[in-house]
Amino acid sequence: METVVSGIRSTGNLHLGNYFGAIQNFIKMQETHKCFFFIADYHSLTTHPTPADLKNATKTVLIEYLSSGIDPEKCSMYFQSDVPEVAELYLLLNMNAYLGELERSTSFKDKVRDNPDNVNAGLLTYPVLMAADILLHNATKVPVGKDQEQHLEMCRTFANRFNRLYKVEYFNEPEAFNFGTQLIKVPGLDGKGKMGKSEGEGNAIFLADSPEIIRKKVMKAVTDAGPTLPNSEMPEAIQNIFTLLSIVSQVDVIEHFKTQYNNCSIRYGDIKKQLAEDTILFTQPIREKILDMQKNDEYIKKVASDGASKARESAQKTISEVRKIIGFNH
Ligand code: TRP
Repeated sequence: METVVSGIRSTGNLHLGNYFGAIQNFIKMQETHKCFFFIADYHSLTTHPTPADLKNATKTVLIEYLSSGIDPEKCSMYFQSDVPEVAELYLLLNMNAYLGELERSTSFKDKVRDNPDNVNAGLLTYPVLMAADILLHNATKVPVGKDQEQHLEMCRTFANRFNRLYKVEYFNEPEAFNFGTQLIKVPGLDGKGKMGKSEGEGNAIFLADSPEIIRKKVMKAVTDAGPTLPNSEMPEAIQNIFTLLSIVSQVDVIEHFKTQYNNCSIRYGDIKKQLAEDTILFTQPIREKILDMQKNDEYIKKVASDGASKARESAQKTISEVRKIIGFNH
């Protein structure tokens, strides 16, 4: 079985975009691969969260991934900081990561531009820690979005450099992975672009949203005055409503509204009502699990500690082999 590693940033509640972008990928991969999914809490320290915020955000993400269908029996789900072996590999890889290449990373440059007062060494070496996350389990596939391609490229560079320096073929050169065209880009409710948290209030539907909130958000989704000519092209806002419908509704429902759009009899209030109710049908089982798990600290602790045990076993094997290769075998 091939090994898969992916890190999850703890950026708060998950929305439909996260579900159909990342989580669905993870759910598929856990059936056919040896998977390690972890919450990147060491990485999140670059922005200095308070202990309370850190705890809260990381726990939320764990609960929501589990509620969405990540199965701790099939994969290892853990908090990065529960596997301190990663810190050792990070230290070792840092010796072969060069200032020039780290400074050239686009994400580093973006962060320097956005936060010139907080250019810490952790930020600079973020790609090294990420490489350590992946190489710790000697993964071959890393399910991540396009924005992480450059980090993956750097990971391959570090792996390859280590292999050449010590004349071994130890680390794999992992590839970014997604299910390509099978992935749906989930649009937001504001009439333009994709669903996201930073796109403003009401743009994203969260898995933990209550039915009332979902109805409110969907009914406020941006539309227009409606088609005036038969078979006219759909503007982006309307296309987005149909895309969302295609994610949560039955085929005949979508066809029904398409026909109405094409003969100009569509009433956007009706399609939004349908979209709201079908979204609720889809998210409510997940929400119920979220609410249950929030009350079940014991379960969450057990999942995290079982996940960390599995990850540490794999990590300790790597670390002891790497130490030997380097010459730490007194
Ligand atoms: N950098 C990733 C992101 O911003 C998160 C991450 C950290 C990660 N370590 C990883 C992803 C290892 C994949 C593998 O989303």
